[in-house]
Amino acid sequence: MTDSQQASGKDSKWIQNLYTTIKSPADELTYYENTANEYEQTLKSLNYSAPDHCMKTLKNFEQKSGTLVPKDGKFIDIGAGTGMSGEALRRAGYTGQMDALEPSENMYQVAKEKNIYSNWFSDLIWPDKETSVPSDTYDLVFSVGVFNNRSTTSNCLGEVIRMAKPGGIIAITHNYDYWEGDYKHAVNNLVEQKTVELKALEISSEGEYYGEKTACAYILQKL
Ligand SMILES: C[S@@+](CC[C@H](N)C(=O)[O-])C[C@H]1O[C@@H](n2cnc3c(N)ncnc32)[C@H](O)[C@@H]1O
Repeated sequence: MTDSQQASGKDSKWIQNLYTTIKSPADELTYYENTANEYEQTLKSLNYSAPDHCMKTLKNFEQKSGTLVPKDGKFIDIGAGTGMSGEALRRAGYTGQMDALEPSENMYQVAKEKNIYSNWFSDLIWPDKETSVPSDTYDLVFSVGVFNNRSTTSNCLGEVIRMAKPGGIIAITHNYDYWEGDYKHAVNNLVEQKTVELKALEISSEGEYYGEKTACAYILQKL
């Protein structure tokens, strides 16, 4: 499904513009800079539940596998936005140092008020380009609602995996349509290259992303 097909007449103007006007990471950054003050209100009105779906998948993985992300470990929230994903990690009981990668200063100003992040990286992720975030550093790299097929595309996955410690966990949640479209193959390639193992994949019920959309969350372990 293309992004313009993603937007339905029932979606808010904010969602329709997001899906139909953005072609690159730079466009996406401009969009969030300009709409930061309406972000939380819009997402709450759409029953945005992707952050909790991500954490539920992480906890299920821990329970089933016995592999535990240290609660007092080091975490980074990729595309932290206004901090809704970071708040979900805190609600799930992870108390350690949490850093944020968020290129939009206006979005991060809202997040900063929540006092949940330690360090802020303002990099914009581009395919196959390194950000200033150090390598092999985090017990958990997580990202909610950032990866898509218009700007932060599947060839940006390698960059976020680079930030995890060897053996560290990467937890990613995005619109399920993108998994079927492209991410399934990208993740399989990373598994074949022995960069990561795919430890869990959970498809939500309809509406557990936002509105009527379905989320998918997957857990990778860096090799
Ligand atoms: C839908 S919001 C998600 C925010 C937060 N994770 C949440 O769940 O509410 C997407 C965020 O990703 C950021 N973003 C978009 N493209 C990005 C990129 N290429 N690199 C880093 N961050 C990006 C945007 O600035 C925006 O704050």
